[in-house]
Amino acid sequence: MRSYIGIDLGTSSVKCLLINENGIEKSVSRDYPLSFPAPGFSEQEPGDWYSQTISALKELLCGIDRSSVRAISFSGQMHGLALLDKNDEVIRPAILWNDGRSVKEVAYLNNEVGRDFLIQNTGNIAFAGFTAPKLLWVKNNEPDNFGMISKIMLPKDYLAYKLSGSFATDVSDAAGTLYFDTARRRWSEPMLDLIGIDGSQLPSVYESSQPVGVLLPELAEELGLPGGVKIVIGGGDNACAAVGTGTLSKGDCNISVGTSGTVFVVSDEFASLGGGAIHSFCSANGKFHYLACILSAASCQKWWIENILRTDYSEASGLSKETVLKNRVVFMPYLTGERSPINAPEAKAAFIGMTPDTTREDMTCAVLEGVAFALRHNIDLIRAAGVPVTRSKICGGGAANRLWLDLIAGALDVELEVSPDEQGAALGAALLAAAGDMSGDEWSVFSSVFYKPGEVIVPDPGLKKALDDKYGLYRRLPVLT
Ligand code: XUL
Repeated sequence: MRSYIGIDLGTSSVKCLLINENGIEKSVSRDYPLSFPAPGFSEQEPGDWYSQTISALKELLCGIDRSSVRAISFSGQMHGLALLDKNDEVIRPAILWNDGRSVKEVAYLNNEVGRDFLIQNTGNIAFAGFTAPKLLWVKNNEPDNFGMISKIMLPKDYLAYKLSGSFATDVSDAAGTLYFDTARRRWSEPMLDLIGIDGSQLPSVYESSQPVGVLLPELAEELGLPGGVKIVIGGGDNACAAVGTGTLSKGDCNISVGTSGTVFVVSDEFASLGGGAIHSFCSANGKFHYLACILSAASCQKWWIENILRTDYSEASGLSKETVLKNRVVFMPYLTGERSPINAPEAKAAFIGMTPDTTREDMTCAVLEGVAFALRHNIDLIRAAGVPVTRSKICGGGAANRLWLDLIAGALDVELEVSPDEQGAALGAALLAAAGDMSGDEWSVFSSVFYKPGEVIVPDPGLKKALDDKYGLYRRLPVLT
């Protein structure tokens, strides 16, 4: 028996998953805090990522034949900036993908440096969530910290470094930095010069399924694992979710409804879409993909159900089709600003269209619809660029709400295949660990066990019509800032 571990370093928790030839054996997760120290700021402590990962791994390995573990790999929240000094101490809390502080730096990059220069050198334009504007923010606002930087890391690369001692990253995550030349799969020298950093501060770049070292002996001993367990670098969470859901061939689409919501479409060649409004990144299997990211997806449902209604999720999943047809309230889901496609970190969420007879159900329904509309906004742009999307896989916590699936299928006019395993990204990471330990032919046989067909949701014509009309209204509404 050969076992592989996938570690998905998410925004609210780390999930560790163990797989073998029979399928998924076990998964364990651990939470960590997310802090918002100022409006628009979003930070986490890299030390929490590491300590919670080790704690989760210890529980994961209880009762498991540890001698069967061959490799470990990672899926990570993308774009986060973790900085280490020359003694490998963390310089400041990591600045995350949903942090909007770098508005000035984004304006400088897009307007003064120019979108053409950025697209030519990186394949993308600047968004506040990307890593380059955050580095410029540190340079402009915390020059002492900037001067101390010895290593610049993405979140999962910090874990890979702590577990193996290898300073490494992969192409799918590196593509989200805006100092990576996506088309050529290497760091962009013109961008490094522009930011004022050099290659020695950056990790070596690998394809996602490449081993970068082995588990450090002292950790192997602490976890009771054999010597020589491979550390495979893995990928950004969306690239990993694509591997986990089998979104691997040209034109395949995967939608993830997690804290963020993403639309991921595979491409054989590099291309920039919609003037950079849609991201163009490297995939974890040697290809490329188009990615649109809305900053608040399942987090809108969580905020509404837990913080505002203080109830349980049956209130959101139990809504009827009739509620959708009668609801006139529109929700703009920009709780934490917005990335794709409007690129407005200062955008705010809003309910619009209430009347005295508006009910609690209407507002719950509007929250779910608003997220579907924000996804539709991106699908429209992807289609307008000549990339057809008629069918998609769907994964992430939000995919557990059946009504939400109907709303997304109807609003986007796509058939949705629900991933049987909600943990797309952790599974993708575990499959990348296996890919780093096997020949391609062996991996095809091994991975086929995990690619089971899921339930297919076909757009309901009545819902589609109602949602189309309401989407027209959604698009005409001004975005509050
Ligand atoms: C993608 C993005 C998010 C994070 C969430 O560009 O920023 O999906 O990766 O973890």
